[in-house]
Amino acid sequence: MRFTIEQLDGRYIPDMVEIEKECFSAPWSYESFAQELVNRMAVYSVAVSDKRCVGYMGMHHIIDEGYITNIAVTNGARRHGVATALMEQMLTYARKSGLRMMSLEVRQSNQVAIDFYRKHGFEIVGFRKNYYTNPTEDGHIMTKILLNG
Ligand SMILES: CC(C)(COP(=O)(O)OP(=O)(O)OC[C@H]1O[C@@H](n2cnc3c(N)ncnc32)[C@H](O)[C@@H]1OP(=O)(O)O)[C@@H](O)C(=O)NCCC(=O)NCCS
Repeated sequence: MRFTIEQLDGRYIPDMVEIEKECFSAPWSYESFAQELVNRMAVYSVAVSDKRCVGYMGMHHIIDEGYITNIAVTNGARRHGVATALMEQMLTYARKSGLRMMSLEVRQSNQVAIDFYRKHGFEIVGFRKNYYTNPTEDGHIMTKILLNG
């Protein structure tokens, strides 16, 4: 599958909302992504194939840390390295920007995502009780240290 990694552009938001609905029980809305477009802390990349967004990844850059807000790939485009390309792009941004740490939350039952993050050097460091709803579930906190000292 051929795809390119691009910066978030408003024209991709409708595709992103569809992917959210496909993937999550509490999907982000059009307005949530539109807010991210004007949020100066937000760093987003989208994967584009045949002029459609097939995946995206977002992070909030706060001082010297990055909080991953979401990463998702549409069903039909999975296992083609789309999320890997999005993560590599974000890690390049993080290193260039001098981020010391990246972190995220993930449902404890989401083994595919946990394996994906582990592959990219994230480790489980804690949990948040009942962090998720519908169904209620604890979240793992995963972090990756980029710079020590
Ligand atoms: C997690 C997700 C983003 C991975 O996207 P993807 O584009 O399919 O991932 P990649 O093709 O880059 O896969 C990279 C690696 O992740 C792991 N992985 C991805 N999908 C997997 C699966 N179904 N089973 C086991 N391992 C998997 C593998 O190690 C894979 O490497 P490999 O293909 O060489 O074996 C995708 O499954 C998804 O959108 N899931 C739903 C949304 C979600 O749960 N997001 C995370 C919220 S915290």
